[in-house]
Amino acid sequence: MLNFALIGYGYWGPNVAKNLYKNKQIEFKYICDLRQDRLNLAKDSYVNEVNYTTKFDEVIADDNIDVVCLAVETSAHYELGKRVIEAGKHLYVEKPFTDNVAQAFELKKLAAEKGVKIHVDHIMIYHPAIVKIKEIMEAGELGDTIYMDCSRMNLGKVKNDVSAMWDLSVHDLSIIDFLSNGAEVKNVKSMGRVIYSKKPSVTFITADYGYFIANIKANWISPIKERKLIIAGTKKMLVYDDVDVLNKLIVYDKGFDVIKASDPMEYYEFVVKTRSGDAVIPQLDVGDALYNSLEHFRQCIINKKESLSGADAAIRVLTVLEEADKNMIISE
Ligand SMILES: NC(=O)c1ccc[n+]([C@@H]2O[C@H](COP(=O)([O-])OP(=O)(O)OC[C@H]3O[C@@H](n4cnc5c(N)ncnc54)[C@H](O)[C@@H]3O)[C@@H](O)[C@H]2O)c1
Repeated sequence: MLNFALIGYGYWGPNVAKNLYKNKQIEFKYICDLRQDRLNLAKDSYVNEVNYTTKFDEVIADDNIDVVCLAVETSAHYELGKRVIEAGKHLYVEKPFTDNVAQAFELKKLAAEKGVKIHVDHIMIYHPAIVKIKEIMEAGELGDTIYMDCSRMNLGKVKNDVSAMWDLSVHDLSIIDFLSNGAEVKNVKSMGRVIYSKKPSVTFITADYGYFIANIKANWISPIKERKLIIAGTKKMLVYDDVDVLNKLIVYDKGFDVIKASDPMEYYEFVVKTRSGDAVIPQLDVGDALYNSLEHFRQCIINKKESLSGADAAIRVLTVLEEADKNMIISE
């Protein structure tokens, strides 16, 4: 049985803790946070079933710990991640992996030298709906992908250490990466508005992946909550609406049929005719994405395999974010 420790019990850490505790194949050994008030809160839930400490050093010095999960601010991922790997422990780290691509490459190299594994919590690729979409696409049901349109907006918690894009679009970029089997991005354009934060709180990315294009919106200043993905294919199209409790995923038999014009004198050689058939709501597995993410990493360690969201996938996602940051047109 592998022994896990959790660093960071702020907003997201309690969700990681809940799923570590729920997994009976995992020995959940430590909760560590710099803040005693957060540890007191954790004690209300886990009483004396885990150890509590404010000292990160104490956790990584413990030879019994195999895996360290980081749920700390993104700006601390690199420094703490490096120390976890140097201590010879497997690293589970919240998204986004690091603040930049160079740091991500460094951690990847270090992990290979130390013989430990990295798993970045690209949580959405472990969501039953996204797994189902991948199945649908791999079966060829959608045909060729024309575009993916992603939006993630809410009247959200405005952060200062990351932009809305680094905080939210990382989810959509990881979904695109997973569904396209790691397609390399060819061209990235972006625009952002800096308001209520030091970093852009409203961002738009458009990216060209060669055989499809993507539009990715991230927004903390929206009157409604939206978590939506539309994929248009040459055969069918689908909409995944994470906010819809009943019909999260709908596959539409809609599109265009291209017909050669019968009249050779017709102005266009080809005409397109809309096609509208049934809409199907596929059955989704029950299961929690975060639980699946942690369990996937546990199995990777046991079976000596690389994580689906290991350093390579995370580097592809960070590359788009970095490129988008570099050329972002900013409106203040
Ligand atoms: N997967 C998801 O869907 C998802 C959702 C929300 C947040 N996150 C990610 O989770 C991470 C944490 O976000 P958050 O909103 O919980 O942040 P937060 O600021 O609420 O919590 C971070 C906690 O880490 C603690 N901490 C920082 N440095 C520490 C150290 N050296 N030792 C021990 N404790 C330390 C802080 O005291 C704080 O309690 C971020 O990377 C964020 O992007 C992921």
